Amino acid sequence: MNLLITGGAGFIGSHVVRLFVESYPNYNIFNLDALTYAGNLQNLVDVEEKANYTFLKGDITDAAFLEKIFSEHKFEAVIHLAAESHVDRSIAGPMAFVATNVLGTVNLLEACRRHWAGDYAGKLFYHVSTDEVYGSLGEEGLFTESTAYDPRSPYSASKAASDHFVRAWHHTYGMPVKLSNCSNNYGPNHFPEKLIPLAIHNIKSGKPVPVYGKGENVRDWLYVLDHARAIEAIFHRGKVGDTYNVGGVNEWRNIDLIELLCDVMDEKLGREQGTSRKLITFVKDRAGHDARYAIDSSKLMKELGWAPSVTFEQGLAKTVDWYLQNEQWLAEVTSGHYQQYYAQQYEAR
Ligand code: NAD
Ligand code: TYD
Repeated sequence: MNLLITGGAGFIGSHVVRLFVESYPNYNIFNLDALTYAGNLQNLVDVEEKANYTFLKGDITDAAFLEKIFSEHKFEAVIHLAAESHVDRSIAGPMAFVATNVLGTVNLLEACRRHWAGDYAGKLFYHVSTDEVYGSLGEEGLFTESTAYDPRSPYSASKAASDHFVRAWHHTYGMPVKLSNCSNNYGPNHFPEKLIPLAIHNIKSGKPVPVYGKGENVRDWLYVLDHARAIEAIFHRGKVGDTYNVGGVNEWRNIDLIELLCDVMDEKLGREQGTSRKLITFVKDRAGHDARYAIDSSKLMKELGWAPSVTFEQGLAKTVDWYLQNEQWLAEVTSGHYQQYYAQQYEAR
C-alpha cells in the first residue's frame, strides 16, 4: 500500500509515522510536510533511513504540488494530520488556519477524488481532528460522536469546517472516509508553545509558568502514543464513513495539572518539593477560553478494543524524562521564531 501521511514532521504525526513505518514494512509510507515552525525532521531521525519511508516537502495549500505527488506515487490511502494546531496563534492570526486547515484539506480531498476517479476499492481518506469542534462543556457531560458541532475559536472553527468537507466528500462523491476527534495530547516532541511542554521548559529554566485566568479550565489529556495506537486501529478496523472519539478518561483542571508537574519536576531535578510551584504565575485569560473538554471514547473502546496504555502519572513521568534527556531538541526548537512568538504572547501581558 502507498500510504500518504500529512503533517508527519509534527508532534502527533511523527509518532504516527514511526508506528506505521516500524509496524508495517510492506506499506510505503510517504510523509508530506511543509516544515512550518511546528514541523521538525529531527522528530524522525530514527526512521529516515528505513526502506519503506519517504519524506516529501510541500504545502497542502499548493494544489499543483499535490497533483504532482499524487501522479508520481499513486497513493491508495491518506492519513491527514497536517494543520495549524495552536489556539493562541489562531486568535492572533486566523488566516493561516483557514488556508491550511480548510483549503488544504479540500485540496487533498480533491486530489484523491481526481486520482481515485470513482474507483474507491481499497482506498481511504482518514481525517484526524480534535474534540474542540464540539465547543465547551459545563461541569457535567462528555462529548460523544453525536454531540452537535459548536466551535468557538478560529482553530476549532477551521477544524470543524474541515470535518464537514470530509463528510461531504463521503456523502456526495462516495469517497471512503473515516474521522477521529481526539482530546488534548501530551508526550515527547510536543512543541513548547502548548501548555505541558511550555511548563516543563519554563520550570527547568526557572522562568514563570503562565496559567491563563484562574487555571480552572479542564482538559482531558491523552498520551500521544495512545492516540497513535487509536489511529492505527481506526485506520485498519474502523467503519468507513464513521467518526470515533478518542480521549484519555483523564480530566484535569489546568492549575492542578501544573502543580502536579511542578512536583514531578522538583523530584526529577532534585529540587526541594514546593520550589517549582513558586513559579506559577496567573496571567490574562485567553479570549473566548473554552471551559471544559471531556471525551466519551466508549465507541472506540467497545468496537475496536482500544484503551489508553499508560496512566497520566506514567505518561507525565515519561514526558518529563524525554524533555530532560533531549535538551538539544528543546534548545533548537526554542531558538529563532519561538523567541519572537513567546515575546509577543507572554511579555506583552
Ligand atoms: P503540530 O502543529 O505539532 O504539527 C502539524 C504539522 O503539520 C507540522 O509538522 C507542520 O509543519 C505541518 N503543516 C502545517 N501546515 C502545513 C501545510 N500547509 N502543508 C503541509 N504541512 C503543514 O500539530 P499536532 O499537535 O501534531 O496535531 C496534528 C493533528 O492532530 C492536527 O490536525 C490537529 O488538529 C490534530 N489534533 C491535535 C491534538 C493535540 O492535542 N495536539 C488533539 C487532537 C487533534
Ligand atoms: P493548549 O496546550 O494550548 O491546548 P488547547 O488550548 O488546545 O486545549 O492549552 C491547554 C490549556 O492550558 C488551555 O486551557 C489553555 C491553558 N494554557 C495556560 O493556562 N497557559 C499557557 O501558557 C498555555 C499555552 C495554555
